[in-house]
Amino acid sequence: MTGKIKNIQLADSGRLKIEWAEAHMPVMMALRKKYGETKPLAGMRISGCLHVTKETAVLIRTLIAAGAQVAWSGCNPLSTQDDVAAALYAEGVPIWAWHGLTTEEFYWCIEQTLLQKPTITLDDGADLVFTIHNKHPELAKQVLGGSEETTTGVHRLRAMGDDQKLLYPIVAVNDAETKWDFDNVYGTGQSSIDGIIRATSILLAGKTFVVAGYGHCGKGVAMRAKGLGADVIATEIKPTAALKAILEGIRMMPMDEAARVGDIFITATGMKDVIVKRHFEVMKDGAIVCNTGHYDCEVNLKELETLTVSKKEIRPNCVQHTLKNGKRIFVLAEGRLVNLAAAEGHPSEVMDMSFANQFMAMMFVAKNGANLEKRVYDITEEQDQEIAGLKLETMNVSIDKLTDEQVRYQTAYNEGT
Ligand code: ADE
Repeated sequence: MTGKIKNIQLADSGRLKIEWAEAHMPVMMALRKKYGETKPLAGMRISGCLHVTKETAVLIRTLIAAGAQVAWSGCNPLSTQDDVAAALYAEGVPIWAWHGLTTEEFYWCIEQTLLQKPTITLDDGADLVFTIHNKHPELAKQVLGGSEETTTGVHRLRAMGDDQKLLYPIVAVNDAETKWDFDNVYGTGQSSIDGIIRATSILLAGKTFVVAGYGHCGKGVAMRAKGLGADVIATEIKPTAALKAILEGIRMMPMDEAARVGDIFITATGMKDVIVKRHFEVMKDGAIVCNTGHYDCEVNLKELETLTVSKKEIRPNCVQHTLKNGKRIFVLAEGRLVNLAAAEGHPSEVMDMSFANQFMAMMFVAKNGANLEKRVYDITEEQDQEIAGLKLETMNVSIDKLTDEQVRYQTAYNEGT
């Protein structure tokens, strides 16, 4: 067996988790059944760099069933579920992933997945694509294409594409409607609250809850915090996003003001230095601070350290900083993705659609990669509607269909009132 994981003894627990996820990911199971017969990914070597969770295990098993050879690493030092990694390793998946790896180990794991000389890459956060581009450009020659799961990764890859720096085409899985409109909103909304509650056991009702960033993820978190009775404040830099928040009943103010009144802070911006020293200095005693963005640079913990006189882990994933001014600030999950580090990530039901998009992206690249340009491709409207339709079918929900007459009406330019 190839790979490196924390503890093989955890495999039984991991297998049960995967079984649970499979029971809640019917679209993935339908794709596995369908393409397990025709094996359209035969001959493809897929190197993946994506959170090792029970849902990802379902994706990996489905890729293998469709004929692919895979090699896997996690895409965040704290997001790997060690029991799931053990289960995958025990069934022969080459996987290099464990919870709590150092930055050095993180990149070492990615390097191991490149030894198979991939024909396709699958990323969440673009670290694998960047490793190929910056350290092993020669490997790009045999790569037909790749996919990217998350907003921040897609932004950076689009910038690379615009500057003609991409060495192979990328499919922007994040930008599928069946990804961002569900995963980013309902997935991040629920799983981030889940992470905060597991790490703190705190009552949200009556708390002042500050969400930095009112994009899809921030909106989802704000909606769920409001539903649990919190008084929600959002911060923004984009006027239209700020207006949306206000019209949805969320208070809006700059972080300099919110920092003074918040009980709980969560960043969901994709930007660095959203909460910095001057904010920590004015926070209330007992403020809780966390992040749900992909990278851990949104909360500047280095600056918090300069204010800290002592710290202790008071609960798992919750570190108490006592500051020079005598106040305590609690940092969750080391400022890394609180939903994956302190909880289990998005629920299986939403990952079902996100990973159906990943799977279809792999098929698209395998089939068309050789003829694609070196740029970022969007998921097609047909694929989005097909995945949404499949999901509805698994939920036993039927919807209406336009009649021929209505289809004609849709584009008729001589119809009046
Ligand atoms: N990103 C957010 N939640 C996830 C999950 N459950 N599995 C994989 N990636 C995720």
